[in-house]
Amino acid sequence: MTRTDGYLLDNQQSEAAERFDAFATLFDPTTFRHLEALGVGPGWRCWEVGAGGTSVVSWLARKVGPTGKVVATDIDTSRVAPAARPPVEVRVHDVAAEEPPGEGFDLVHARLVLVHVPDRERALRSMVRALRPGGRLLVEDADPALQPLLCPDEHGPEQQLANRLRHGFRELLARRGADLSYGRRLPRLLRESGLRRVEADAYFPVTSPACSVLESATVRQIRDQLVTAGVATDEDIDQHLANVASGSMDLATAPMISAWGRKA
Ligand SMILES: C[S@@+](CC[C@H](N)C(=O)[O-])C[C@H]1O[C@@H](n2cnc3c(N)ncnc32)[C@H](O)[C@@H]1O
Repeated sequence: MTRTDGYLLDNQQSEAAERFDAFATLFDPTTFRHLEALGVGPGWRCWEVGAGGTSVVSWLARKVGPTGKVVATDIDTSRVAPAARPPVEVRVHDVAAEEPPGEGFDLVHARLVLVHVPDRERALRSMVRALRPGGRLLVEDADPALQPLLCPDEHGPEQQLANRLRHGFRELLARRGADLSYGRRLPRLLRESGLRRVEADAYFPVTSPACSVLESATVRQIRDQLVTAGVATDEDIDQHLANVASGSMDLATAPMISAWGRKA
């Protein structure tokens, strides 16, 4: 159930569950607000791309009901598999390399996925192709270059260390083909894909306990890669994890840009 070559943060490690729970706490309210506004309701056929965990898929399943369908795809479905019961169908699928898992969808949604996909242009084309005429696309992706700091208020050595490690993490992502300015491009890319009534907005927490959970899980997950790449020493990482656990720092995330439109 996996095909994770190239993706830095694979879903098999135990930290992945913590990361998905933190994404849900931080971003589900924004995502659900947008999905509500797009009109998702009974009978809709939805494709959730790069589903990750279960929270968005389960919410969609409740909205579309027994007459609808939610196709949840990911290169690694281990964390979304528990949601696999009608109307949810879970499939291993690479959005950049394979044909869409169906056609005529009323809604296609991807959150924090395309930024990681090197062939994101092809992935976006595929997502648009899978929509019915009038179908809605919602793409939500980070723009770390817009707000690159883990601690925007860098007032002491703890915050400086946090921001240095964050910078190193971003370097690793970029080396794997992530586009760290992707979010801001979404409105134009959606229009160029032929979508109409394109709009976008942005959200990010400036401090939240879920940011600390996310940071701790992420750093523990990529610890070896940070050390091997020379970004940080083991001592730096231990110190940073202790600082995060102390709760004394205000941790933010990158802005998440939500962009949406309708297929002509
Ligand atoms: C940062 S997580 C976001 C998960 C979820 N969408 C959320 O917002 O909580 C990125 C997800 O995209 C998946 N992914 C990465 N590359 C992919 C690809 N080429 N095709 C499909 N899924 C992919 C990963 O396995 C992971 O589950």
